[in-house]
Amino acid sequence: MQNDIERILLTEEEIRDRIAELGQKLTEEYKGKNPVFIGILKGVVVFFADMIRAIPIESQIDFMCVSSYGNGTESTGIINVKKDISVDIAGRHVVILEDILDTGLTLSHTIRYLQSKKPASLKICTLLDKPARRKSEVQADYIGFTIPDLFVVGYGLDFQERYRNLPYVGILKPQAYLHSKE
Ligand code: PRP
Repeated sequence: MQNDIERILLTEEEIRDRIAELGQKLTEEYKGKNPVFIGILKGVVVFFADMIRAIPIESQIDFMCVSSYGNGTESTGIINVKKDISVDIAGRHVVILEDILDTGLTLSHTIRYLQSKKPASLKICTLLDKPARRKSEVQADYIGFTIPDLFVVGYGLDFQERYRNLPYVGILKPQAYLHSKE
């Protein structure tokens, strides 16, 4: 698995240090507000587990699994909620946690969907932001790292469901994804 990695973009230590900083910011912002952290499955699981432990305040967690692409690769503009939240977020302070903000289509649909449930506030925290590929105007409120348009895997991010368990964010060798298309 490690042989498919061209180079490490973000080391375990860099990720850990940045999460500590983000955790401090969110702790200050949400102390006494009993926020709900909503993770968008599956890529977020590793970041989510580290992030919530960096925010030692009264809070709740929940998860959603969504797809915004319909059957093809073009966005339908309709969100397909494969797994919904179970917490009632009406009047609650909500923070969506994501592993990567890429085209922004997933989040723009998810935001619209969650806004319809009337939360008191709704903010976005993403580990990675790839602004070069944005198709929707969505912006994150808290960003771990802004990265160039590279094919990254690890720390929850996959390529065809592989590499999620790498402890760092790495750049995939082209032959790893070109080869797998055969
Ligand atoms: C990834 C990632 C985000 C989304 C971002 O999820 O976790 O949810 O894509 O892309 P976008 O900004 O272009 O919409 P994916 O659909 O690959 O599912 P996964 O989390 O299960 O890997």
